[in-house]
Amino acid sequence: MNQSFFIKTYGCQMNEYDSEKLNELLKFNGYKASKNFEESDIAILNTCHIREKASEKLYSDLGRLSKFKENKAKVGKKMHIIVTGCVAQAEGDEILKRNKSVDYIFGPQNFHKLPKVLNDSKSEKVFNDFLCEDKFSSLLPSTGKEVSKLVTIQEGCDKFCSFCVVPYTRGAEFSRPLEDIYAEVSSLVKKGAREITLLGQNVSAYKSEILKDGKKVKVKLSYLCEVLSKIIGLERIRYLTSHPIDIDELLIDQHKINSKLMPFLHLPIQSGSDRVLKKMNRKHDKKFYLDLIKKIRRKNNSMAFSSDFIVGYPGETDHDFEETLDVIERVKFASSYSFKYSSRPGTPASIDNNYVNEKKADVRLKKIQEVLNNQQKEFNKSFLGKSSNVLFTGKGKKINQFVGRTPHLQPVHVFSNDDLTGQLLKVELSQLTSFSFHGKLSN
Ligand code: 5AD
Ligand code: SF4
Repeated sequence: MNQSFFIKTYGCQMNEYDSEKLNELLKFNGYKASKNFEESDIAILNTCHIREKASEKLYSDLGRLSKFKENKAKVGKKMHIIVTGCVAQAEGDEILKRNKSVDYIFGPQNFHKLPKVLNDSKSEKVFNDFLCEDKFSSLLPSTGKEVSKLVTIQEGCDKFCSFCVVPYTRGAEFSRPLEDIYAEVSSLVKKGAREITLLGQNVSAYKSEILKDGKKVKVKLSYLCEVLSKIIGLERIRYLTSHPIDIDELLIDQHKINSKLMPFLHLPIQSGSDRVLKKMNRKHDKKFYLDLIKKIRRKNNSMAFSSDFIVGYPGETDHDFEETLDVIERVKFASSYSFKYSSRPGTPASIDNNYVNEKKADVRLKKIQEVLNNQQKEFNKSFLGKSSNVLFTGKGKKINQFVGRTPHLQPVHVFSNDDLTGQLLKVELSQLTSFSFHGKLSN
């Protein structure tokens, strides 16, 4: 009988994409996807290392799974436990030491080797090389028919923000060739995709080469967006996550001239204080960020922004925090993510023991989240009673209910007797409940 597997995905959308690809690879090699760990012969944990809490989740899940593996062994059944992703990369040997039931460790650029390793009883246990090219060329096209799909176009980061583990876990910046991305997106659109989110830890640093009049020409994310927008059937393009210093004029222009590129940009600033930004090695200050937002809005006044914020960075004073609140007040974000600083082993920030008192950081986090939630509510309120283009991605929880998203990523629920999945329709946004809309199809 075919062996079954289950993948639990922690963390970001890049991990979601990797899990989907690993899923395709295992199915292609004769393994069967199961619905949970309990029914699986191979348990895969695709992990995240960005903050301490995310890493800890792995160890608590491993505790539970190893008991499960022991019980299975008692009735003569074998189970494999495999850890992939960023924790695997950062502390693979430690995982093996802490939990003897783990069979294999694969860093984020090694999981494509898994089918081969499972067939090799003499294989080594830890795979943590930086093999982006190898990985992407081994991956298979997606068989899923979802309306909105993620496509990783770039991996790794050369920015080295002082708090962040990504440059160490995902390695140096690597961009996939433009032709490969075009082929993947075209194939997804043929299967029913209408929206593509281009992913990268530093997606705006994307670069590739094309042949123009027999000569090699360097191209960037703006060109990729332009080329992809010509694919018939593809309605929407998004990209995630950008660093402010990589947003160039050509990309800003795309937001004006490319109607398939959505007017929504996730642009992390992390802190509003120039002093903290410098310590974070962010390579931009508050003014640069605010000017950039202004410049983008001037080109396209329907642009909305979201951001990531870190509070309690070592040495952050009340005044620094006020500066962050000031940026929020000036920009008015459509949505945002905020985190309490978490010290990560091996990062430059981790040796700065100017810790902000835990309680103080909690108070700041609560405050910033309150302000950001209010801004999100205000942003959403400004759409009430108006109509918006909604791309329907699937069924809602209720009978005959369908869910979609506006250009600004706001969720919308609509009742309809017809299946709306995959359609881009005008909807009157008539009601707002917490962060999602209820609406009626416009006539
Ligand atoms: N502590 C808290 N938040 C962090 N992030 C990255 N590293 C840390 C850390 N050490 C946040 C940043 C980043 C997002 C993906 O996670 O805000 O943009
Ligand atoms: Fe981490 Fe900074 Fe790179 Fe983003 S830009 S992945 S925060 S190092």
